[in-house]
Amino acid sequence: MQHTITFTQPDSPTPIVVQVPTNTLLADAAHLAGIEIGQPCGGQGRCGRCAVQVLEGSVRRRSTLRLSTEAIEQGFALACQTVVEGDVSIYIPPQEKIERKLTTDRVVAEVTVPEGYEYLNDQTVRRIQLELTPPSMDDQTDDWSRLQTAFRLGQRFEHMTCSLSLLQRMGDILRAGEWNVTAVVDVANILEDSESNRSVRLIDLQPGLVDEYSPLWGTAIDIGTTTVSLWLVDLVTGQVRVQVAEYNGQIARGEDVISRIMYASKSGGGDDLRQRVLATINHLAETACKRVNAKPENIVKATIAGNSTMMHLLLGIPAGSIRLSPFVTVVNHPPVLAARDVGLNINPEASVDCLPGVASYVGADITAGVLSSGLDVAEDITLFLDVGTNGEIVLGNHDWLVTCACSAGPAFEGAGVVNGMRATQGAIEEVWINGETFEPTYRVIGGGKPKGICGSGLISLLSETFLTGILDKAGNVNLMASSSRVREGAHGGEYVVAWGAEAESGEDIVISRVDVDNLLRAKAAIYAGFTVLADTVGIPLESVSKVLVGGSFGKYINVEKAVQIGLLPDLPWEQFDFLGNTSVKGAYSALLDWRKREQITDIAKRMTYIELSADNSFYDAFTSALFLPHTDLYKFPSVVAALEEKSIHVDK
Ligand code: FES
Repeated sequence: MQHTITFTQPDSPTPIVVQVPTNTLLADAAHLAGIEIGQPCGGQGRCGRCAVQVLEGSVRRRSTLRLSTEAIEQGFALACQTVVEGDVSIYIPPQEKIERKLTTDRVVAEVTVPEGYEYLNDQTVRRIQLELTPPSMDDQTDDWSRLQTAFRLGQRFEHMTCSLSLLQRMGDILRAGEWNVTAVVDVANILEDSESNRSVRLIDLQPGLVDEYSPLWGTAIDIGTTTVSLWLVDLVTGQVRVQVAEYNGQIARGEDVISRIMYASKSGGGDDLRQRVLATINHLAETACKRVNAKPENIVKATIAGNSTMMHLLLGIPAGSIRLSPFVTVVNHPPVLAARDVGLNINPEASVDCLPGVASYVGADITAGVLSSGLDVAEDITLFLDVGTNGEIVLGNHDWLVTCACSAGPAFEGAGVVNGMRATQGAIEEVWINGETFEPTYRVIGGGKPKGICGSGLISLLSETFLTGILDKAGNVNLMASSSRVREGAHGGEYVVAWGAEAESGEDIVISRVDVDNLLRAKAAIYAGFTVLADTVGIPLESVSKVLVGGSFGKYINVEKAVQIGLLPDLPWEQFDFLGNTSVKGAYSALLDWRKREQITDIAKRMTYIELSADNSFYDAFTSALFLPHTDLYKFPSVVAALEEKSIHVDK
C-alpha cells in the first residue's frame, strides 16, 4: 500500500511530497525526496543523529535507543529506525553540515620530485609520436596492424592491446591526424614481467603530434575514511601540480569503517557508498584539473591507497567479511583496472592501480605509508603509527615488520564527543589551562568564535585538565575544584572550555565525563596496540629508536601532550617525527616509480599481521591504559616529573 510522505525543512518553504509503500524507512523516503539525512553510525540506531520530527501520521519506531522520553513525546524518531505505516508529515531539523574541505594550508604537503627522476625510465606511462605510412592500393594493411607496426619500429614492445572503445574510434583518429598520431601506452607489463608478457596497453590515441614536453597527467589518491586527498602529477616532470582534499562523501552514511560496512550490507547501501566516494574523487579530479587548465580525461594513470574497507567500497566489492570472524578481505592485491570499470571520470582507459594491503584492517594506506616513511629500510627499530579513524601500527626495520590494527574509533576526529568536531574552521585546536584559576585560553582554527573541539584540541584539553587536577587519573572530573567551569552536567561532571557568549552556537562548549571515557578508550587502544606488538617480538618500547606518526591528524598533535595523556610512549621528543599523509605520499611514489610500486608489494608480503582480537594480552594492555596516562605511572617518567612540578599528587 502506498502512502504520502510530506517533508518540511527549515530553509525550504515548499514541502516535498513522495509516495512510498508501507514499511519504508523514513531515511529511504527522505532520500527518495532528494533530502539527505546524515547517518553517522551507518543507520544502526546507535548515534541518534538522524532524528526527525513526526508532525502527523502513523510510524513505527523499531528503536528509540538514543532518544529521550521527552523527545519521543515531541514526535522525534530515528529516520534510520522508523518505518511509515500511513500518510505522514515529517519535519527535518537542520542537518549537520559537512563542509566541503578543499585544500587549505593544513593539508598542503611539501613535495619534492624524487632525485634523478627520469620520466622515460621510472614510471610506466609513455607518450609516443607516430608517423604512419598512409594506406594505398599497394598497401591495404588494416589500421590496427598499421598502428602496431609503426609502434614496433624503434620500440622494444612486441604486442599491444587496446579496448573495444578505442578500436571503435581508431580509424577516425588516424585519418583526422592524417596518419600522424600521438599514442599513450602503459608499459607496466614489460617492466615487471619481461619474460612472459611483452604486451603494452594502449590508453589514448590523439590525432596529430602532441608536444612531448607538455604535461602528461597522472594522479595519486588516498581514500581516507574521513578525507579523500588527490594529487595531480605531471608525469613528465614528476611535479605535484595540484593538491586537493575533501571529506569522503560516504561520511553521511557512517563515520567509521564498521558503520560503513553495516550500511553497505543494506539493500542498495553498497552502491550508494560506491557512488558517493566516486563522486568525491571525480569532483576532486575536476577541481584539480581546472586549476591547470586540463581536463579529467587527460589523466592517464591513477594510483590509489586507502584502507581495505575503502578499497572494497570503491570497487563495489562486498565488504561484509571484513567485520566478521575470521576477518578476511575479498582481495588484498587488486589487479590493475581500467578507469571506466572503476567508475572514475578520468581517461576511461587509464590504468587504475589500487595498491596492495595486508589484511582486513591493515590496508594499502599502511603499506604506502610504510614505504613513504622509510620504515622498511630503516636500520633501527622503528614504530609507525597511523592515527585516524582506526589506529594502524607497524613495528620493525629492514629485517622484519609486524603490524596490527586497533579500533580506536573516531573520537580523535571529533565523533562520539559532544562538542567534538573535525579539524576545520572554528575548531579549538589547542588549549592551555591556568593551574590556579582553572581559566583556559585556546586557539581556534581560522580564528573567530569556536564551534567545537577537534582531535588535537581534545588531546591538549585532556592533558591540561589532568595536569591541573581537574581530571583525576581515572578521568573523573574533580567537582571540588573551585571554578564555575567545573560542574555537574547532563552527562556527569564536565569542564566548560568556552562559555556560550564566546561560542558560535551561543551554547557552552564542554568536555564531559562521557567524552573523556570515549577519548580514554581511543588512546588506550592505540597504546595497547603498540605495546602488544613490542611484546610479541620481545622488545621493550625503550629500544624503539624512532616513532613515525602518519595521518594528517598526526601532523597537528602536540607530542608532549600526547605523551601526557598516554597516547604516545614516553620517549624523548627528538625520536618523534610527524609525517602528514603518508598514504598519499606512498601512492605518489608508486605512481612515479615502478620499482617503488614493487617495493610496496614486497612490504605487504613482508608484514606479519597480528590479530589483536585473538590476543588476550591486548585486553590486559588496553585495560591498563584506560587511565591518564596509564595504570603504571613508571612507564611515563616525564609525566611524573610534570605532576611533581605542579605539586599534584597521583597514586603510582
Ligand atoms: S541512529 Fe540513525 S544513523 Fe545513527
